[in-house]
Amino acid sequence: MCNAMSTHPAASSQIAQLVQAVQQSSKYAAITPVLIEQIAAQELAKGRSHKEALKATKNKLHQIAGVYLTRRPDYDAWLAQLEQAWPHAHARQQACRALMANHASTKERLPILDDFYNTLFRDLPPIHSLQDLACGLNPLTLPWMMQSGALATECTYWALDIYADLALFLQSFFDLAPINGRATATDILHEPPTIQTDVALLFKAAPCLEQVDKQAGQRLLEQVHARVLFVSFPVHSLSGRQRGMVQNYTAHFHEMVHNLSWRVEQFEFDTELVFRIWKST
Ligand SMILES: C[S@@+](CC[C@H](N)C(=O)[O-])C[C@H]1O[C@@H](n2cnc3c(N)ncnc32)[C@H](O)[C@@H]1O
Repeated sequence: MCNAMSTHPAASSQIAQLVQAVQQSSKYAAITPVLIEQIAAQELAKGRSHKEALKATKNKLHQIAGVYLTRRPDYDAWLAQLEQAWPHAHARQQACRALMANHASTKERLPILDDFYNTLFRDLPPIHSLQDLACGLNPLTLPWMMQSGALATECTYWALDIYADLALFLQSFFDLAPINGRATATDILHEPPTIQTDVALLFKAAPCLEQVDKQAGQRLLEQVHARVLFVSFPVHSLSGRQRGMVQNYTAHFHEMVHNLSWRVEQFEFDTELVFRIWKST
């Protein structure tokens, strides 16, 4: 009999079978296998059958990543759109906006984008390097980062998310921009970033990471090597309801940093709550 409350480590062959079954679904095939493996192992350890664990693993991957991609990405067509628009500054921003609307998280940022980096990067020394963690399509906000005047001409941009096909698309985008950029498919729970940069962005990702590992948000804040770290949270649920999210996430953020002596500033935009942390690295 299965006991849903018990936890037994699953055999590696059971985990491998489950990972393979998840990868057969085109929606999850490009996700870095280490993350699928971790979630599959967690679900099997709850005493679930293969079938139940498969459903639960897919559900979790949907909640932390799939749900944000509002339509199946056609990266070749997206890149062609960008290539066509790129020579003209206005068309370039229009194309980036249109593509960012395909990811629920960057879609929410579109109405505030004209102010976003002007506000957040104000007072910062020139940014020579930046890491965008659990980035989704946020690297497409690069024209607005550049417009803020905060990026140094030779800025290096590291972009990390769990999808291999997204990483390839973002790498082509960086080559087009052109910026010295490196996009990789990385599960930051399993492989916390070791790069040292001027700025790190952890936009709206902590609640997703914490669905897999409750301590992940706090641990990452400590692990990231950056002089200035931006951590943000949504102010509406994906269904549009507000439900005290600003208060809840503000309280959650302060719990995450309560032992740390960093200078923290808070910015409230219509669709996003952002904390700017000056880390003493
Ligand atoms: C709420 S979205 C935020 C996207 C982007 N930072 C933004 O604000 O536009 C969460 C992102 O986290 C990514 N993600 C989830 N788990 C991850 C992990 N373990 N490592 C890296 N990225 C992850 C998802 O694929 C998704 O793109």
